[in-house]
Amino acid sequence: MRKIKLRFGWILILTSIATALLVGSCSKSGSEPQPETSKKAKSTYTLGMSQCNLGEPWRVQMNADVKAAADKRPEIKMVFKDAQNDTLKQRSHVEEFVSAGVDLIIISPKEAAPLTEPVAKAMDAGIPVIVLDRKLLGDKFTCFIGADNVKIGKAAGEWIKQKLDGKGKVVELKGLMTSTPGQDRNRGFREGIAGSGIEVIFDADMKWLEPDARKEMESALSRFNKIDLVYAHNDPGAHGAYLAAKAAGREKEMVFVGIDALPQEGVAYVQQGILDATFQYPTGGAEAIEAALKILKGGKVPKEIALGSRVFDKPNVASGGKALE
Ligand code: FRU
Repeated sequence: MRKIKLRFGWILILTSIATALLVGSCSKSGSEPQPETSKKAKSTYTLGMSQCNLGEPWRVQMNADVKAAADKRPEIKMVFKDAQNDTLKQRSHVEEFVSAGVDLIIISPKEAAPLTEPVAKAMDAGIPVIVLDRKLLGDKFTCFIGADNVKIGKAAGEWIKQKLDGKGKVVELKGLMTSTPGQDRNRGFREGIAGSGIEVIFDADMKWLEPDARKEMESALSRFNKIDLVYAHNDPGAHGAYLAAKAAGREKEMVFVGIDALPQEGVAYVQQGILDATFQYPTGGAEAIEAALKILKGGKVPKEIALGSRVFDKPNVASGGKALE
């Protein structure tokens, strides 16, 4: 009986020492409750980047921008996956990142609807997701970063209205219409030319791809013997249209307008006189890494980070273009 009492006494003493130590260590880190994410504070973070394709220069630039920003942060380890423009592959990439337990996912989705569900599942698994450039449906993601495509489309429409003195025949080569930039660049453009004498005589979905744009432009050229301007939703599209017109000996007859304005692509085309204007579409790569770090360290980021844009045309290209208002 005495032995049992002694043992019980020891247990009590040990438990109180342990409790005292625990309380001591907690009060060292402050009595304030810590934000949820700081519980996971780590010395390194693995970030999964799901890119919808690397076949287009703009996307190669986006990955390079993400990598350059991440390389400056020793605590970040990047894992890149290229879906090669295959929606199903991109869905699996997101699922693979979730099973691998990455700390955060950055995605530039090919299409809105099919990528919405895997991203929602990543969020359910407690993995924050930053969406870059193309949007998803609904709001189950941590943060969206991108320029305002309706605004860019509208600015392009207004530029075109001015260039054509309010009237003329236009070909619109649209980006993939199941992706939000295609939808928004179309809507903004139509708003920009509304009420003018500008007539869209031919429009087609060139899916963001230069060869498709070239083919579509060939059919536009064969159907119409007067085309004043081509508005393409990206610079590869505008360049494809230019090549088709040049092959038909008709490139001087019309004006070419694109979007993206990479220095080595669209801006160079304007300098060379191939395009008449291009509107900048920043990749958001550096901003994504900045937001990722904030999220991982328990900070707050806005639901949407809007990036600015500039127009580059013949008169202003030498002086670095002009910011959109
Ligand atoms: C590249 C690209 C860009 C365009 C963006 C829109 O895949 O087509 O040219 O601005 O995607 O999401």
